[in-house]
Amino acid sequence: MTLQISYRCFFAGWLVLLGTLLGACSANEDIPMSGDTQGQEAAQNISSDTSLYNAEDTAAVEQLLQSMTLQQKVAQMIQGEIKHVTPDDMRTYGLGSVLNGGGSFPNNEKYASIQAWVDLADAYYDASREVSAANAGIPTIWGTDAVHGHNNVIGATLFPHNIGLGAANDPKLIGRIGAATAVEVKATGIDWIFAPTLAVAEDDRWGRTYEAYSDRPAIVADYAYEVVAAIQEQGMAATAKHFIGDGGTYRGVDQGDTRLDLETLLKVHGQGYYRALDAGVLSVMASFNSWNGDKIHGNKALITDVLKGRLGFQGFVVSDWNGVGQVEGCTVDRCAQAINAGIDMIMVPEDWKALLFNTVEQVNSGEIAMARIDDAVRRILLVKYKIGLFDGVKPSIRALDHRVEIGSDAHRQISQEAVRKSLVMLKNNAGVLPVKADSKILVAGSGADSIQMQTGGWTISWQGTGNANSDFPGATSVYAGIKAAADAAGGNVELAASADYKARPDVAIVVFGESPYAEGQGDVGSLSWQQGYDRDLSVLQKLQADGIPVVSVLLTGRPLWVNAHINASDAFVVAWLPGSEGGGVADVLLSDASGNARYDFTGRLSFDWPNRDINEADAGLPVTDVLFPYGYGLDYQQAQNLAADLIEEPLGEVVGLDRIIFSGNTKAPWQLFLGDAENWSVPVTGANAATRKGGLALSSIDRFVQEDARLLQWRESAEGADDASQVYWQSDSPVDFTELRELGGVLSLTYQVATAPKSAVAMRMDCGFPCTGELDMTAAFSQVSAQGWQQVAVPLACFEAAGADLGKVITPLVISASSTFGLKIAEVAVLQTAPSGALLICPE
Ligand code: BGC
Ligand code: BGC
Repeated sequence: MTLQISYRCFFAGWLVLLGTLLGACSANEDIPMSGDTQGQEAAQNISSDTSLYNAEDTAAVEQLLQSMTLQQKVAQMIQGEIKHVTPDDMRTYGLGSVLNGGGSFPNNEKYASIQAWVDLADAYYDASREVSAANAGIPTIWGTDAVHGHNNVIGATLFPHNIGLGAANDPKLIGRIGAATAVEVKATGIDWIFAPTLAVAEDDRWGRTYEAYSDRPAIVADYAYEVVAAIQEQGMAATAKHFIGDGGTYRGVDQGDTRLDLETLLKVHGQGYYRALDAGVLSVMASFNSWNGDKIHGNKALITDVLKGRLGFQGFVVSDWNGVGQVEGCTVDRCAQAINAGIDMIMVPEDWKALLFNTVEQVNSGEIAMARIDDAVRRILLVKYKIGLFDGVKPSIRALDHRVEIGSDAHRQISQEAVRKSLVMLKNNAGVLPVKADSKILVAGSGADSIQMQTGGWTISWQGTGNANSDFPGATSVYAGIKAAADAAGGNVELAASADYKARPDVAIVVFGESPYAEGQGDVGSLSWQQGYDRDLSVLQKLQADGIPVVSVLLTGRPLWVNAHINASDAFVVAWLPGSEGGGVADVLLSDASGNARYDFTGRLSFDWPNRDINEADAGLPVTDVLFPYGYGLDYQQAQNLAADLIEEPLGEVVGLDRIIFSGNTKAPWQLFLGDAENWSVPVTGANAATRKGGLALSSIDRFVQEDARLLQWRESAEGADDASQVYWQSDSPVDFTELRELGGVLSLTYQVATAPKSAVAMRMDCGFPCTGELDMTAAFSQVSAQGWQQVAVPLACFEAAGADLGKVITPLVISASSTFGLKIAEVAVLQTAPSGALLICPE
């Protein structure tokens, strides 16, 4: 049964235009549903003779292949990043592909116009076609992470992140989103999308949980088919990523280790791939994670034997960002293991040139077989033929018709529909929802008027940080949506940052939740929200104490343990990361003037919702104590009264006494600032920043993974030693370190001196400046760190002796200098015990 259907789909796809018929095919109810193992059989049978490619293209590719030199072939297998590949490089080397990473734009210009995107696409395309001894003249292909709309482009429609789409559980809607995204991408001259993510996110502590549709395979599999078919119907390539087991790592650690036998791996984490392959997906991205201890990028059994063999994948496999460098024995510019394992296209953003020559050398020496190179290049060329890159039409011409569709009303309406359908109502005591649109409404909370918070990671910048509302032309914040609906019905809305209102409201809608993050920077140790510094909870409790009905709207990339917040709310709605169309929230939450709901809730959890912060039996495993199960979600037809007695006692001593201030990123409640005499408090919101007068510049650099450390570069001030520039971490409210001091606690810093200081360097701990304890660190930092990362630990007592009041520390670390000095920082923490190996010092 399964076999026949699958065969019919592919046969049809082979004959006529792939998309249309596959679309019809997917509607067939007999199609094997995910979650069962039939998908595996079906996929296995595909590997027979049905081809994704027609005879003409196949013949053309064979001919082309025969005319290419080894270097030209290897160049086809390489993908560099637009910051590191100029059109001239493209002309000289004929690279098979370029990508723009998250937060990378033409000319490095965040506000690059659509014309600038298209111009750059044309420049690469034209350059790639110029035949020379090194360049075979094959059209290059540009890939981009359009993971919730064309999210690197200002003004594009931003859809809810995948976790919200999972709650909508509407495959046809997902197809429409895929199509809308594809045309917006095409309109910028780009032909390849690094989506969909088909992760099954099992441990919500994973920083990429929001990129997953669900914590189990069924929805992932259903959606995989629809997204891939929709994107590819537009004559583009989609990417099923990240193969395989990215969502199954131990402790939910990004790029971690997934420990499962092969059959379970495929049964849980493979279901999306079966369906993506059924839809004819043209590329698959290898995953950063390991499988039972081995990096997948070097794993032939999975990439070649399973994916290309058993599953019959006919497209090409692209490696992830410098992922080949993580394979044992490899560097980013030299990795025969990965190519031999079956990687066809190598994403090496910066070091592509060395990779090109090293790989040629490895083929000449026999480390990589020529047949492997031919197989990789053949796969890449077939895809390029299939999507029409050889048709001789420039990207700008192909883009032309679609230009008006970027951020169009029609696309925004699809996104707003998706927002409405993604909302999940967990609580609605006494029918406080829907809120009557003609009432007096207080809209409060950090997320109320923050499009940055509602769009999350992978939005304009990689981490989704550093964006203001003005960076989203055409978008609507949750507050703006509520205000528009209330205004139309004669209601009244007050916006407040906290619980302090001017006029007493009839009801309060409090929008709060996570700040943006991407990849490993979003990993957390426990699911508890703001444990130990309950800023949001205190807003809810204050309003409740005032006798005002409270509706909580949670913006989040994962299910969180928020029992206390649910207890302190009359209604509780999870809005996930809804994207640019915040108006969808008001559509469902606010009635019309006569009190009738305009839209009902249809969203249901595609993840279990936790009743605990960590797993009680084994903190290494996902939480299994479930408050609201998968599939749960209220609507206006159901009356419910949830008692405010949910467990509020945390299991995890995640905070303990140790305070991590910076590790990979700045940890709450701390915030990172730069300052100089012109402005002592410039918040660092993106990957790069500088003080007003320019004496200190900060940039994000890589230690273990992308952008997990910071480089601070001071330059000499013309005004001399009194003109200091500083970097510091600060909290809103004072923190008490006296107990840690009693226990012998230290401030510990993991650093590298990049440039020796030309004059004094000071380290301070401030207790509401001018309350401070200052230490002279010039001697400690005097030498460039020749051996790499170092650790220094300064006893808290030492800061106290220098004048700090440890009972009310607001700024645990300030580093200040007024002349040339370069310092890399990977970790800042206040710890009960100095890390072993750290140099313990107490300078004057
Ligand atoms: C880059 C982004 C890229 C990301 C990939 C970052 O270091 O700045 O452009 O998308 O790494 O993980
Ligand atoms: C991510 C991929 C992404 C790539 C390119 C990587 O760090 O894991 O999902 O496609 O960067 O930006």
